[in-house]
Amino acid sequence: MRLLYIFATLIFWLLVAAFWAGSLWLPPAEKSAAIAVGKSISPTELAKHSTPENCWVAIRGNVYDLSAYLPKHPSQPDILPSWCGKEATEAYNTKTKGRPHSIYADELLIKYQIGILASGKS
Ligand code: HEM
Repeated sequence: MRLLYIFATLIFWLLVAAFWAGSLWLPPAEKSAAIAVGKSISPTELAKHSTPENCWVAIRGNVYDLSAYLPKHPSQPDILPSWCGKEATEAYNTKTKGRPHSIYADELLIKYQIGILASGKS
């Protein structure tokens, strides 16, 4: 009986140690989420991508590389390029004429996400 008690205790502490070691090995949940949405991009970095061929735009806290989408955007050709390298949440939300984009546009946008907009300058 005493042997059984010692054996059970040993197994218990071995399991505790295994769970602890496992949690050290796996990245924390927030870290995984950050990797999934991409890297943190500063406003300074965003501003470097301001041409139609190299067009990054920040919308609702995320950064999107719209270079490939620009020729496909169904508005007057000069509207979207003027937002390259900039924060464009208001422009996107209103199409600059007080009307929101469709849900289809929102879903399309997700495909172009490359990161999240960092606050601050560097
Ligand atoms: C950031 C600045 C943007 C501005 C100022 C803008 C403006 C416009 C305008 C003026 C139109 C055409 C007229 C209309 O439908 O009312 C339009 C249509 C459209 N835009 Fe944009 N757009 C922007 C960004 C985007 C982005 C990033 C996407 C998707 C990746 C997108 C997807 C679409 C789609 C799918 C349409 C067709 C109508 C709809 O589904 O709402 N736009 N946009």
